[in-house]
Amino acid sequence: MSNNQLLQKIQHSFIGKDTDYPTLDGNIGPRRYLDSAASTLMMGPAFEVAREFLSHYASTHSKLHYAAKGASEAYDWAHQSVLKFVGADDSYNCYFTGSGATAGFNRISTELANQRPDRNIVLVSEMEHHSNDLPHRAHSEVVHIPAMGEGAAYGGIDIEVVRSLIDQHGENINYIAVTGASNVTGALTPIHEIAQLAHSVGAYILVDASQMIAHAPVSMINATFDDSDIDALVFSGHKIYAPGSPGAVIAKSSLLESTSPCELGGGMVTDVYLEKYMMSEVLPDREEAGTPNIVGAITLGAVLEVLMRIGMDAIREKEIPLIDMLWKELSAIEEVNLYGPAPDDVPRTGTMTFNIKGFDHGLTAAALNDYHNIQVRNGCFCAHPYVREMLKRELWDMDIDPNALNAEADIERKRGMARASLGLYTTEDDLLALVEAIKDLIARKDEIHSSYVPEGSNGYRHRDYAPDKSAIFDPLVALEKALQG
Ligand SMILES: Cc1ncc(COP(=O)(O)O)c(C=O)c1O
Repeated sequence: MSNNQLLQKIQHSFIGKDTDYPTLDGNIGPRRYLDSAASTLMMGPAFEVAREFLSHYASTHSKLHYAAKGASEAYDWAHQSVLKFVGADDSYNCYFTGSGATAGFNRISTELANQRPDRNIVLVSEMEHHSNDLPHRAHSEVVHIPAMGEGAAYGGIDIEVVRSLIDQHGENINYIAVTGASNVTGALTPIHEIAQLAHSVGAYILVDASQMIAHAPVSMINATFDDSDIDALVFSGHKIYAPGSPGAVIAKSSLLESTSPCELGGGMVTDVYLEKYMMSEVLPDREEAGTPNIVGAITLGAVLEVLMRIGMDAIREKEIPLIDMLWKELSAIEEVNLYGPAPDDVPRTGTMTFNIKGFDHGLTAAALNDYHNIQVRNGCFCAHPYVREMLKRELWDMDIDPNALNAEADIERKRGMARASLGLYTTEDDLLALVEAIKDLIARKDEIHSSYVPEGSNGYRHRDYAPDKSAIFDPLVALEKALQG
């Protein structure tokens, strides 16, 4: 099967892509899932691998029966798949973390801070998700790297700005933490150029690949710039078609060997006495205390294997025209504000944030769902400083203090955006449907405003319409069905 044939087959394999939901007009039909930056749908063949594994399930901590041997080998294979996927050579190792990328950032920030307490500064970009900002603040002095541009177009990293911060803080910098791609605007970061600058003062680079991993080729090693290897990289498996899988940390083995693991327990020690214990020297065991999420890791390994067969370059090439088309179509609508740098100025992944003038972001997301069966995210996407910066001007226009902490619900409802994000299963038709839906909401502005009431800090609900409960997943209903089936 050619790469292209495999890609087409996989695009139709995603579980839940066409699940039916009701709409306000009384119809029921397949949803359009445009919320992949939050979590992607499950790739069918990877789910099948997990299901097959479950018929052989055993703990990797048991050693001698056949099922345990199979599980241990498969779990090891999952680590190897991750390393291969990110182009890591023998100098790297990889460990899985319990709960997504967030756990990885908490772990690695503690380890790096403990390793070099004399270097107390961490440079963190202003575009970061809180997961790649707050853990560093807990241990170090964080200096934020401003992005390029201003107002709604704010985004993307200017390498000269990084250079000047490096000149300023020099060898006090322990590491630089940057996102590979923003979860708000999809703006891609020149990670290897930043790595080279970091290394010039002996600092490390830590990359958040959560939003990049499913959309663009990622390589720990780069031949173009000298001394530009990535020291550590973190991502979540649920953002790359393996919901229920762990987070992954890939790091230079030398770095992990010289730090003390921050999670202790079974599986990462060689011996324990009442008064002392000896940690394993073996990676990744020493970083993986407790019984791991074996099923999730194997699912992730299977996804990565499929994506390697298709080729991440081919996937990126397929996404670029969709991004360009969506940007062009939305830019042409006068009542739409688009955020982040234009794709021609800074390359982006398929994540598009927007507001419809006169609509709060929650109203847009609710109405897209209720009227058009289009599922998008809204809010500040756990990247408050970045979103606040892009919205500053709009909020000033509205006479709302954009820096107000403890914001009132009214401010929360204004401070944010709607976000449409793409996955491998997203078609041009899905995006054109979004564009038409936005035009429809604009045309129905008065009707929509009078039909919805605010709910919670950033939501809206229709006054009269509520979907039949049976349309929405209920674990007990699913259980009854399974018990009867
Ligand atoms: C860029 C980025 N980093 C980190 C995270 C945190 O990932 P998780 O919630 O899986 O820990 C997210 C999740 O939205 C993200 O988009």
